[in-house]
Amino acid sequence: MSLVNIKIEGQPYQVEAGLTILEAAKACGYEIPSLCAFNHGECNQGSCRVCLVEATGARGLVASCVYPVSEGMEIKISSPAAVQARRRSVELMLSNHNKNCQQCDKNGQCELLHVAQITGAREDAFQGVHSETHIDTLAPGLIRDTSKCILCGRCIARCSNAHGMGILGFENRGFATFVSPAENRSFADSPCIQCGQCVNVCPTGALMEHSEIDKVDAAFKAGKHVIVQAAPAVRAAIGEEFDNPVGTPCTGKMIAALRRLGFERVYDVNFGADLTIMEEGTELLGRLQNGGVLPMITSCSPGWINYAEYNYGDLLPHLSSCKSPHEMQGAVIKSYWAQEKGIDPKDIFVVSIMPCVAKKFEKEREQLITNGNPDVDAVLTTRELARMIRRAGIMFNRLPDEEWDQDIMGDYTGAGVIFGVTGGVMEAALRTVYFKLTGKESEPVEFTAVRGHDAGIREASLDINGTTVNVAIASGMKSAKVLLDEIREGKSKYQFIEIMGCPGGCINGGGQPYVRPCFMPNEGDDILDTYKEKRAQALYSEDERQTLRQSHKNPQIIELYEKFLGEPNSHKAHELLHTTYAAREGFNEVKK
Ligand code: SF4
Ligand code: SF4
Ligand code: SF4
Ligand code: FES
Repeated sequence: MSLVNIKIEGQPYQVEAGLTILEAAKACGYEIPSLCAFNHGECNQGSCRVCLVEATGARGLVASCVYPVSEGMEIKISSPAAVQARRRSVELMLSNHNKNCQQCDKNGQCELLHVAQITGAREDAFQGVHSETHIDTLAPGLIRDTSKCILCGRCIARCSNAHGMGILGFENRGFATFVSPAENRSFADSPCIQCGQCVNVCPTGALMEHSEIDKVDAAFKAGKHVIVQAAPAVRAAIGEEFDNPVGTPCTGKMIAALRRLGFERVYDVNFGADLTIMEEGTELLGRLQNGGVLPMITSCSPGWINYAEYNYGDLLPHLSSCKSPHEMQGAVIKSYWAQEKGIDPKDIFVVSIMPCVAKKFEKEREQLITNGNPDVDAVLTTRELARMIRRAGIMFNRLPDEEWDQDIMGDYTGAGVIFGVTGGVMEAALRTVYFKLTGKESEPVEFTAVRGHDAGIREASLDINGTTVNVAIASGMKSAKVLLDEIREGKSKYQFIEIMGCPGGCINGGGQPYVRPCFMPNEGDDILDTYKEKRAQALYSEDERQTLRQSHKNPQIIELYEKFLGEPNSHKAHELLHTTYAAREGFNEVKK
């Protein structure tokens, strides 16, 4: 690594050659405000001009996010010219911005407000006409409001990096420029998979999840039996909303908060995850032993299901027919649970707390609604749950640790917990498939070959009692596409594939707390590199703490089959726990 000598504010430093001024300054302990630059150059348009500094050797002020350091460079962050220029840049942005902050869900986490505050841009310095506003509220997952957009391009870069898709782009030119799916379509009318990755990176309220808090409030008001179920990945991240370090498991406090919000029962989706493994594991064994369609691909990520229906309609028979865990659990709550409690399913309102924006879309799939009654009535993201907790005045960090409700569906195993991590569904399934093929539990319990937290492809080959099972894992559609094209070309060597919509799996879902170094002073500078690993570790350690770590050992799952479902993949199980898929006309690029 070669080094160069520079000066910042008159102080001498040695930094790595090739760094931008912004990166070098950060390494030396200076935060230069920035907006369009994000995540090590994932998006670096140099367009917002919020990061202007003076640097010797350059003509005038330079955008520090794109300008590299050089030997002998002297950088001035706080010269009057630099301070004034940065303030002007923010004032210009605010002059074309709908500043209704008190109604904006981003308030408190808005990077535009952050840079306005630190640059001192507090007045309406420029006033004039605003560009035309485009608002899209049609998609169940996400909304777009261009009156809050600063044209930073982060969303465009994220969609492309995560999925290899260019759903979003800039339309028009100059003052009329706005961000949108092609031809200013709604997200609902484009092949957007509603994963919410673009929402995660948007610095303002221009892209947000479609909030369903009002729906939940209305269910309480109507006197419904409001039952809540929370997905594994939520507990690994909700603490971040209340200033806990990334990776702090907050299961007990989250349960206590849900109870104080008034939910009649507080259940863990891990019960549904164990049920999914019973059904999916049996389905895989059936396909392996009876010449079924292989490779079988997991089906618990609705972002991935959307992608498959839009782009790989010819491969839908490869998808497991299992509903996702929270949909299975919703169906069980409205049938078995309702029967045991003597409650009319129509009076039950099931709320899922999810790390995911696409689950909002999923719960509205016609295949998941029986006689007008959906399996799940509302989906709240981790961020929405945090908003409800704050609204209720609950001091999250002072809550005691409480336990899930234990009746009927309170038991869960470590296998269910790891569903939230890429490779987790695969590992959970392998624990049960191993038992079914050998009659013994695997030793060790873990299948570490399928673990990891990046978005690339991982693969492993397992010999279980003479049966070879080749498996692969992909998260993010860019990686998944490679595996899917192999199947299309007849070249796939795998029997079982796990695909998750978001890179890194649900711990990095589109509904998880925003990871913003500027709002996380207690985290290391590497937080954008390490947060997935830290959240994943929170789930793996919860798995290790469980006495039961295989889905087939869950006593209440065993009871559910004995009393209600019969056996895995039975007729009744199929009716309640399995689903169908359909290629989406107009988007499907089926190649035979
Ligand atoms: S995006 Fe930020 S500045 Fe704009 S209205 Fe929302 S909170 Fe306010
Ligand atoms: S929701 Fe996902 S697929 Fe849709 S535009 Fe955003 S990143 Fe792209
Ligand atoms: S929608 Fe958000 S992320 Fe996309 S360009 Fe606008 S402000 Fe940036
Ligand atoms: S952060 Fe440098 S130009 Fe936007």
